[in-house]
Amino acid sequence: SNGSTDSKSLRVKLVLLGDSGVGKSCIVLRFVRGQFDPTSKVTIGASFLSQTIALQDSTSVKFEIWDTAGQERYAALAPLYYRGAAVAVIVYDITSPESFNKAQYWVKELQKHGSPDIVLALVGNKADLHESREVPTQDGVEYAEKNGMFFIETSAKTADNISHLFQEIGKRLP
Ligand code: GTP
Ligand code: MG
Repeated sequence: SNGSTDSKSLRVKLVLLGDSGVGKSCIVLRFVRGQFDPTSKVTIGASFLSQTIALQDSTSVKFEIWDTAGQERYAALAPLYYRGAAVAVIVYDITSPESFNKAQYWVKELQKHGSPDIVLALVGNKADLHESREVPTQDGVEYAEKNGMFFIETSAKTADNISHLFQEIGKRLP
C-alpha cells in the first residue's frame, strides 16, 4: 500500500443460478437499477450486468454479474457462466419446495465443478410472500450451515435484504 487513504478495488465475477421464476433477474434489476418488474420475462441464455459497491472499509467491488436462464433447456449452458466465477448466488423461491431442491442440486454442482475457493450464497427470495411460504427459514439456515454457505432471505419486490446480500458477499471475498 502507498498510503493510509488508499483503498482496494476488486473486480468479481458473480453468477446467479436457480430454477426459472425464482426471481434471479428481479434481484439483479433491484440491485443494479433499484427497480422491480412484476412482468419480468424469462431469461434466454443469460444476461450480463455490472454494478460497483463500496464496502464499509471503503474497498470498491465491481460485480460482473451473469444472470443465467433457469429453464431446463438452458441447464447445459451453466458451466460456461460459473466457470471462473468467484461468487455463485443460488436462488430459490420460499413458496416453492421444488425450487429449494433445485438450489441444492446447484450447490452440489458448484461444489464439484466450481472454483475451489468460490464464495457460495444461498438466497430464499420472495420473502414478501410470507402467507404462501412453503420453505421454512430454518431449512435454508441449516442447509447453508452444513455446506459452509452464506444464507439470506430477500425480496426483489420490496428490496428487503437485496443490498445487504451484496454487501455480505463483498465481505466474504478472499
Ligand atoms: P428465469 O429467467 O426463467 O430463470 O427466471 P428468473 O429467476 O430470472 O425470474 P424473474 O426474475 O424473471 O421473476 C419471475 C417472476 O417472479 C416475475 O413475475 C417477478 O415479478 C416475480 N418476482 C421476482 N422476485 C420477486 C419477489 O421478491 N417477490 C414477489 N412477490 N415476486 C417476485
Ligand atoms: Mg431471469
